[in-house]
Amino acid sequence: MKSALWWKEATIYQIYPRSFFDSNGDGEGDLPGVTSQLDYVKNLGVDAIWLSPFYTSPNKDGGYDVANPRDVDPRFGNLDDAKELIAQAHKRNLRVIADIVPNHFSDQHEWFQAALKAGRGSKERERFHFYDANEDGTPPNNWISLFGGPSWTQVADGQFYLHLFDSSQPDLNWENPEVNADFEKTLRFWIDLGVDGFRIDVAHGLVKEDVLTNHPDPQGLSNALRLDVAMDSEVRNALLLTVPYFDRQGVHEIYRKWRKLFDSYVGREIMAVAEAWVHPPVNATRYVRADELHQVFNFDLLTAEFDSKVLFDVVERSISLNATVNALPTWALSNHDSPRVASRIGEEQARALALFVFGLPGSAYVFAGQELGLPDGQLQDSDRQDPTFLRTNGQIKGRDGARVPLPWSGNTTPFGFSTGKPWLPISQSWRDLTVESELADPKSSLHLYRNALELRKEFLVGAGGITWLESCNHGSKGDSLLSYTRGGVTVVMNLSDSANECDADGRLLIVSGGTVDARDGKKVIPARSTAWFLT
Ligand code: GLC
Ligand code: CA
Repeated sequence: MKSALWWKEATIYQIYPRSFFDSNGDGEGDLPGVTSQLDYVKNLGVDAIWLSPFYTSPNKDGGYDVANPRDVDPRFGNLDDAKELIAQAHKRNLRVIADIVPNHFSDQHEWFQAALKAGRGSKERERFHFYDANEDGTPPNNWISLFGGPSWTQVADGQFYLHLFDSSQPDLNWENPEVNADFEKTLRFWIDLGVDGFRIDVAHGLVKEDVLTNHPDPQGLSNALRLDVAMDSEVRNALLLTVPYFDRQGVHEIYRKWRKLFDSYVGREIMAVAEAWVHPPVNATRYVRADELHQVFNFDLLTAEFDSKVLFDVVERSISLNATVNALPTWALSNHDSPRVASRIGEEQARALALFVFGLPGSAYVFAGQELGLPDGQLQDSDRQDPTFLRTNGQIKGRDGARVPLPWSGNTTPFGFSTGKPWLPISQSWRDLTVESELADPKSSLHLYRNALELRKEFLVGAGGITWLESCNHGSKGDSLLSYTRGGVTVVMNLSDSANECDADGRLLIVSGGTVDARDGKKVIPARSTAWFLT
């Protein structure tokens, strides 16, 4: 039976507005630019778009430093442009998800400016985390920001404020009722404007405990919390168990209240997805209990090796853990914070993994440009803008590589993205990766995504759970094949560098690369490729 709720098994396309399409030649993507390309988005076969922040912001952290959460930054347009975008999306039956940032504001938000003026002990400071220095003048504790450097910055009168991210992003104090009320106002503002849901930034971070205690390995912890820092998974997981400022139980109370607010819009089916990278994985399911949020991101595939046991474990665990709270998993191979999947695991592997994941139950998230098979942009250090690069003195390169604007058309950079100079350079080597050139090539990644998403809708959405196919699935380290059946479809991924036989029935629906042959009644799956068969 097909699911009645639109978000349950939706494919959701993440747009980083600054990098999508520039409508006015200033080198930065904007809301009218997104609106102008909605037919392209619709033709991909996705159900919804998630827009990374476009609110008033000094843009120290790509707009995740919000100075006014209820207005549009002039670089992106204005509120009428937002309304028009939503109206045009709805006209095409595309839902719109806004990205809300409740963990922190920009230091340019009027509340923070007021807190600086009002001084120590004031009610203005209570909206943030202001503390006195230790007796020896050091910050209240030794935490390291997720972007590097101390988590504390001192203001003129000697007090320090907490910022888990950049110093321009003071953390909000969620024990303060005004903070709660202001965010409810923001949620209502965007729902009233027409959005269909929210992606909640740092959803696990709002409540802090023990703000005055030290962590035994603050630098290790900061690295472990970054998707763009590679680390042994056991070391990472051990550190993730020790985060003092994430995943406190108090956050769930906030989401229960928000759920009531969403549900009060009867007939609207407002949904919310949590960015909550927590450990152990079972903790993530708490965010999607029946009276909380609708989805929680699964971050495992953003760092997982292309290995059958690793992938088997991720898929199995995510499906079964979500089932304990009656929720469906989410799948994402790339986002604006992580290296692009084609660069991380290889081009063919990225296509194979996408096709493997599109068959699974739950929602699939696609980061704009992933459908083109884009790699990370090659940047000079002088191009970089990510605060992480700046705060670590270039030791961590940061996330700009995944944020290079999309190539649309023509033979020379910036490939139709802008008539001006793009905010990050687009390499001339992307000539064959433009939308235009991929549309002309039936074997392109773009066609693979379009075909796969159409078949997913036709055969797999609402088709229930998966059964691992024992004959072609070993699920052990280094095995060549991983395979499952779902509905009438058998999905076989060949992870190895040579073709492999699989005893799968049915006719070929799609293959991510190469040609599937038949040998002795068995299917021969090409190297680094996934195929779907319909029985
Ligand atoms: C989230 C966003 C990331 C941002 C951070 C701070 O992790 O995805 O881009 O830098 O929050 O807001
Ligand atoms: Ca622009």
